[in-house]
Amino acid sequence: MPLVSMRQLLDEAAKGGYGVGAFNVNDMEQIQAIMGAAKETNSPVIIQASRGARQFAQDKYLFHLILAAAELNPEIPIAMHQDHGNSFETCKSAIELGYTSVMMDGSLKEDGKTPATFDENVAVTKKVVDFAHPRGVTVEGEIGVLGGVEDGHGAGGSGLEHITDPDQAVEFAERTGVDALAIAIGTSHGAYKFTKKPDGSVLKMDVLIKIHQRLPNTHLVMHGSSSVPKDLQDIVNEYGGKLKETWGVPVEEIQLGIRNGVRKINVDTDNRLAMTGAIRKVLWTQPEKFDPRDYLKPAREAMQKVVATRMTQFGQAGHAGDYKPVSIAVIAKGYADGSLTTKPLVAAR
Ligand code: G3H
Ligand code: 13P
Ligand code: ZN
Repeated sequence: MPLVSMRQLLDEAAKGGYGVGAFNVNDMEQIQAIMGAAKETNSPVIIQASRGARQFAQDKYLFHLILAAAELNPEIPIAMHQDHGNSFETCKSAIELGYTSVMMDGSLKEDGKTPATFDENVAVTKKVVDFAHPRGVTVEGEIGVLGGVEDGHGAGGSGLEHITDPDQAVEFAERTGVDALAIAIGTSHGAYKFTKKPDGSVLKMDVLIKIHQRLPNTHLVMHGSSSVPKDLQDIVNEYGGKLKETWGVPVEEIQLGIRNGVRKINVDTDNRLAMTGAIRKVLWTQPEKFDPRDYLKPAREAMQKVVATRMTQFGQAGHAGDYKPVSIAVIAKGYADGSLTTKPLVAAR
């Protein structure tokens, strides 16, 4: 199956009332782990690459590895997504390469660190939408700023410093015409999200629900949604790792989000922990091993297990065959003739 539009994937998820995990990749094993999980659970899937990933693997390697995944798994709809584009140029280069979806993260300036103004965010995101939609490519925007720093990207801080303002979310969606909207509700990237066990009030779910009520037809996105499971932390630490005690986002909170308009859920850290734990275990317990396959295979299996679990928890499992993917060219026509509306439905307050 050719790569599909993320917009179609999320529209179908909205119809079915489920969420779709968006998993970060940097190499072949991670792509294979995701596809193994998608096959196992019969799930549609979003595979995403950050700027750092594109740099690490080199664009062409990563792109063709994802194309191979599509070719080998014709029954699985796959959207290829640029995660956290920092500028128009980053998104343009992904689109020209063949990505079917991009995130323009205009919540931060181009340096990927400094919070941008609302008007700067609107301007750059709208510019990406105007370039992407005639080419049938989906656009995710972000309003509000997440906490934490990954690979130099992020504003830092706790995640509670720049919570999304629902009025701004409505104005942003109206002025930009984005297909999906990432919001900040106390989430942050990386392993160190919360310093004590979350009690159900750590995330501003009331803000999320308010935004969904005002923008009932806009697909909401939760970033920083790793749950940082204790068992994965323990494996890393048991075999020589030095992770400090930490807690992630409880899956029940994500499921509450899914019941309130969240359609895309970003997960990277859980997979990093799973792979690192598996590799550490082999190298620690069998120090005589030196064939990379001896540790990459268990690492791939550990990641597949995490991804399959999330696919089931987010509800996308079983939905790969629900619909016929349409081509990017047809999606482009839909944007042009207005049948694929980008004007959000705004509910009265
Ligand atoms: O948003 C962050 C993702 O976890 C990707 O992280 O920029 O280190 O590749 P990265
Ligand atoms: P985590 O660090 O919680 O996995 O978040 C990943 C993410 O938001 C990628 O954009
Ligand atoms: Zn993110």
